[in-house]
Amino acid sequence: MERVTLSQYLIQCDRQTSLAPEALRRVLETCAQACAGIAASIARGALGDVLGSAGSANVQGETQQKLDVIANDRMLAANAWGGALAAMASEEMDDPWPIPDGEPRGPYLLLFDPLDGSSNIDVNVSIGTIFSVLPAPDSAQVGVVNAEAFLQPGRRQVAAGYVVYGPSTVMVLTVGHGVASFTLDRESGTWWLVRDRIQVPAQTREFAINASNARHWEPPVKRYIDELLAGREGVRAQDFNMRWIASMVADVHRIMTRGGIFMYPRDRREPDKPGKLRLMYEANPMALLIEQAGGAATNGLQPILDIVPAKLHERVSVILGSREEVERVTRYHQGA
Ligand code: AHG
Ligand code: MN
Ligand code: MN
Repeated sequence: MERVTLSQYLIQCDRQTSLAPEALRRVLETCAQACAGIAASIARGALGDVLGSAGSANVQGETQQKLDVIANDRMLAANAWGGALAAMASEEMDDPWPIPDGEPRGPYLLLFDPLDGSSNIDVNVSIGTIFSVLPAPDSAQVGVVNAEAFLQPGRRQVAAGYVVYGPSTVMVLTVGHGVASFTLDRESGTWWLVRDRIQVPAQTREFAINASNARHWEPPVKRYIDELLAGREGVRAQDFNMRWIASMVADVHRIMTRGGIFMYPRDRREPDKPGKLRLMYEANPMALLIEQAGGAATNGLQPILDIVPAKLHERVSVILGSREEVERVTRYHQGA
């Protein structure tokens, strides 16, 4: 079989659907290139100056690791001058980052979580990068860009993807025409298509949740997990298996590969915060990928992609993966 590169995949996709115009292809190819560079830095581990804390904090008050900062800088530098973007926003920056004066601006906004799974960096467990592309309002293509330009529901994303830095480096991507995955050939820097039209099985017997938060869960989540844990003897009449990697990218990638349900629900630890994960650059891109693969993603009440964001760094409750399980948890939240 003749191999297909990322560029060829995007061009073919655009011929069939017009969903990957040239400017969008440039954004996605640039992200892929930046992530190949991040992968190289990660792979050097203790031999490069990439492990440990950066000694700073981000807007969410989390300590930044060196790799959070390195990955953020690489994404910014790579995407600053292609002419396809009006501005970028990231987990690691308080405010939007407009394309600098003097560089051409374009029709898209790029959002990213440069390094997902920060607590796993120093222990050599899979980590990732997540990205989302939105259309830029006309006003953002000239002059000041403020956070409002980004506050669009996830349904408006024109592309989303993640890269998982695991035993191999894999990118999973959608431009709204199904989901495809690519493996990086580290020697040549080429991303090769390895799976197209990825489908998440509708049913699963595998769940992912941080069980150490069980005492804080709200009743619908507690009911659902209790039923899974009861196994064959309980109402579900079957055994379920649990996995929790603590890198959303790696947990979602497992679900993309063999199904499952991932939950980081809101809980009672910090009642004013609707969950831990961020809507714009974690939940939305993952929700688009999962829906495009036939799965579902909700906050317990509505599809994540329908939420109208009020803040750039807004948090959200996340329940995503195999459709039948996500629908069940959502029904429990709705009181059924
Ligand atoms: P980040 O490293 O970008 O801050 O994201 C970490 C997130 C997510 O990847 C993961 O699912 C979750 O935090 C893990 O949280 P716990 O440590 O509470 O399990
Ligand atoms: Mn993250
Ligand atoms: Mn992060």
